[in-house]
Order: sequence, then C-alpha cells, then structure tokens
Amino acid sequence: MLLYTPTMIALLAGAWSLAAAAKAVAESPNHLRERQQSYGKISPKVVIVSMFSPEAEVWYENSLNSSVGDLLANNITVRGLSPLYPHVHCNEQGEVCQLTMGEAEINAATSMAAFVFSGLFDLTRTYFLLAGIAGVNPKLGTLGSVALSKYSVQVALQYEIDAREMPINFSTGYLPYGAYAPNEYPSIIYGTEVMELSENLRDVAAELAQQAELVDSADSADYCTRYVTSSGVYAAATASPSVIKCDSATSDVYYSGTLLSEAFENTTKLWTNQSTVTYCMSAQEDSAVLEVLMRATVWGLVDFSRAIAMRTGSDFDRPPPSVGAFQHLRLLDQNGFEIAIRNLYLAGVEIVTGIVAEWDSVFYEGIIPTNYIGDIIGTLGGEPDFGPGSLFDGKGFSVEPSGETSLTKRRILTRRKGRKTGGWM
Ligand SMILES: *[C@@H]1O[C@H](CO)[C@@H](O)[C@H](O)[C@H]1NC(C)=O
Ligand SMILES: *[C@@H]1O[C@H](CO)[C@@H](O)[C@H](O)[C@H]1NC(C)=O
Ligand SMILES: *[C@@H]1O[C@H](CO)[C@@H](O)[C@H](O)[C@H]1NC(C)=O
Ligand SMILES: *[C@@H]1O[C@H](CO)[C@@H](O)[C@H](O)[C@H]1NC(C)=O
Ligand SMILES: *[C@@H]1O[C@H](CO)[C@@H](O)[C@H](O)[C@H]1NC(C)=O
Repeated sequence: MLLYTPTMIALLAGAWSLAAAAKAVAESPNHLRERQQSYGKISPKVVIVSMFSPEAEVWYENSLNSSVGDLLANNITVRGLSPLYPHVHCNEQGEVCQLTMGEAEINAATSMAAFVFSGLFDLTRTYFLLAGIAGVNPKLGTLGSVALSKYSVQVALQYEIDAREMPINFSTGYLPYGAYAPNEYPSIIYGTEVMELSENLRDVAAELAQQAELVDSADSADYCTRYVTSSGVYAAATASPSVIKCDSATSDVYYSGTLLSEAFENTTKLWTNQSTVTYCMSAQEDSAVLEVLMRATVWGLVDFSRAIAMRTGSDFDRPPPSVGAFQHLRLLDQNGFEIAIRNLYLAGVEIVTGIVAEWDSVFYEGIIPTNYIGDIIGTLGGEPDFGPGSLFDGKGFSVEPSGETSLTKRRILTRRKGRKTGGWM
C-alpha cells in the first residue's frame, strides 16, 4: 500500500485541491477510479467526529489558533452523509479532518458508514477522535469533566415494561433480552451490546488531554454545590472538572433521573463483567460509531485500535438530592453546556496535535493494545473479557473464497409467549 508523507500531501494539495481530487474519484468511471485513487486519496492522521453543530463550530473557530490550522480549508462532499452536514472538512495538509454525523444512533451509524466505505479516503492508519458532550454521572465526574472510555455500552437494548406495571420486586422496568430479572446477563445477543476500546491508547490520550487547562464557570460550579451530601456519594460532582477514565452509555432515549441512571449503571457493570461502576457518560452515538469502525476494520479499511471515545459533561444524568427529575432536566439551568463545549476543544486539541507531533516516532506504527478490543461476539478475533464468549472460536470473522464464514455457533429462534426472537447458541 502507498502511504503519503505530509510533504506529498502538501504538494498534491497545491497542484490539485484535495476536494477536487476526491470529487474526481467519486465521479470517474470505474476503470479510471483505481488509478486516480492511488494518488487522489486523503489519508488523515486524525479524524474528529462531532454529532451536531456546536461540537463542530468550536473546532472551526479555535483550530486556526493551533497547529491544526483551518479545518475548513477543504470541504469534501461524501455521498450518504447527513443532509444537515454533507461535507467532510480537512485542514490544508489533509492531516486532520472533521465530520459531523447528526445526532443519535441512526444518524451516527449511517454517516460514519458512508464516510469509511466511501473509498475517498485512506483511513488505514487514521485515529478517530469521537468528541461530543454528554450527561455526566455525579458519582464519577462533574460539569466540564473530560471522560475517556474503554467500554461503550448500548444500555437501552433491552425489553422495557413501564415501571408502573412491573413486578413488585423489580428494581427497574428494563430487562435484558432473554432474561427474567433485571440483574441477569442477556441470553439473546444482537452483537452491538458492548464495544471495548484499546486501553493503552485511551491512557495515552488521557495523558495528552491532561495537558489542557480546562475551564470551569461560577454558574456551573454553583449548580454543582447542590450535590453535596452527607454520604459523599456525589463528591466528584463538587470537584473541579478534570480528565477522567470511565465508560460511556449509548441510548437513543435521552434518559434522565436517579432510577434510570442507576439502572443503566447496573447494566454497564453487568454487561462488561466488571465489579465496580464505571459508567460516567450518557450519550446517543458512541456504540453506533464504534460498530461501524469495527466493521470497516474487518475489511482492512480502518484500524479499530486507533479509536478514541471522548465525552465532556454538559449536564448531570440525575438531579441533586431534593430536586425533582423533571425540574432538573427541563426547568433549572445547570450551565454546563458552554464549559463542556470549550473543554471538548481544549482537551481534544491536545490529543490531535499530540498525535500529529509524534506521528513518525509513535503514532504511525500505532499503540499496540494489550486488552481485548472489539464487540461481544469476537468479530475482530480474541476472546472477549465480557459476555458469553466468541462466536468465532477466538479467530474472528472472515469469509472464505467459497463464501463460507467462520461462524462456529448456530443461530436459534427462541419463543417467548408466542413471539419469536433471534439469538445465538
Ligand atoms: C490564541 O492563542 C493565544 C495563546 O494561547 C491566546 O492568547 C489567544 O487568546 C488565542 N486567540 C483565540 C482567538 O482563541
Ligand atoms: C468550506 O465550507 C465552509 C462553510 O461550511 C466555508 O465557510 C468555507 O469557506 C468552505 N471552504 C472552502 C475552501 O470553500
Ligand atoms: C420476584 O418474585 C418472584 C416470585 O416470588 C420470583 O420468582 C422472582 O425470582 C423475583 N424476581 C426478582 C428480580 O427478585
Ligand atoms: C442496581 O443494582 C443494585 C445491586 O444489585 C440494586 O440494589 C439496585 O436496586 C439496582 N438499581 C436499579 C435502579 O435497578
Ligand atoms: C460475564 O458474566 C456472565 C454472568 O453474569 C457470565 O455468564 C459470563 O461467562 C461472564 N463472561 C466472562 C468473559 O467472564
């Protein structure tokens, strides 16, 4: 494979703009496409992944003042991106790119798939920085906290009974697929329940992010003081924002309140087979993006060990004691949005510039993961350290020339009160 040096990219950019090159590739007949791709592809060192405008704007406005430069120097139209955000943006050299996917799981998965499978970019050595704001768990962080995750859990992928109709001894109306009680491991697996990222890269990213001088504000600090309790369970909420290592939940439903947040805290702990609560950020996209990056890795287009999931706290996922859930969600102003957006950039730009600065010495070759990485069914190979075990005997998914796949277990249909659901045996 041909890899480009920054100088070559700069030369290409001068002679023929990156956007024009990508457009030409997209529009050329198939027989020309392969040749053009060999010199027309942009191979970014880092791609920043935003969900909606404020998370993107903070980069456009501030990166000019960093070595990243103008992120709007190249706008590349990619088929299948969100109608609201139809371009991938790259700096002059094509070293750092950014795209906005649109919010929640469908937008995230569709946009990211359109991008990585577009064939317009060489993403084989690219680092992906998911950079979004989120609801923060006051047990582990506060407004403006910057969290870097190892696990992303699709917490609402469950049965749900309205809590007013649930059995008297249930602690929540959410019930894992195939289970008979909330604290049972799901026995029907869809494959997207849990994604595990490289812990070594997570730690390197946290070290870079720690160089940032994070901002706080008097107004948000004011709301945080409401979390003072005699037990100290929410002590993290009353501290200053900092870089923390803890996990992210993905749910289309923007849940809020103590009971749902605790239920999903339990879900995260159970599904990742951990003994402590590590759930600290509630968002709507991470698992969707990571599933796409994993599938692209299977086909050699992306390297899943280069994915970083970063979230900053813009609001608490549950109210302080003596404040109602609805009042907390909709009536009171927590004033966390602005510092979350600013810290997203401040921490994020340290990670981006850190990767670019040490490209030749460290990041080109990559940070070797020492933990299991990938999904709950072992798609990338290895044995997951959570869940019921690999469906591919630890070898990962592959397709033989005959079309046969490496799946070693059989799909079953289970019948529950007349309704059939799919699962794996
Ligand atoms: C650019 O960076 C300098 C030095 O860190 C800082 O003083 C200045 O306020 C920044 N300007 C903008 C527009 O962010
Ligand atoms: C890229 O698009 C932005 C608007 O999203 C615009 O401000 C900028 O000028 C465009 N860049 C180029 C090179 O056309
Ligand atoms: C709830 O009670 C029923 C009936 O006693 C029992 O079978 C079930 O295991 C209990 N479930 C939980 C989650 O405790
Ligand atoms: C979370 O799990 C703990 C321990 O099993 C349990 O006591 C608690 O009721 C659960 N919380 C919710 C909201 O399900
Ligand atoms: C995870 O926990 C479940 C039960 O809670 C268990 O069945 C499964 O074997 C555990 N997986 C690993 C890899 O430890």
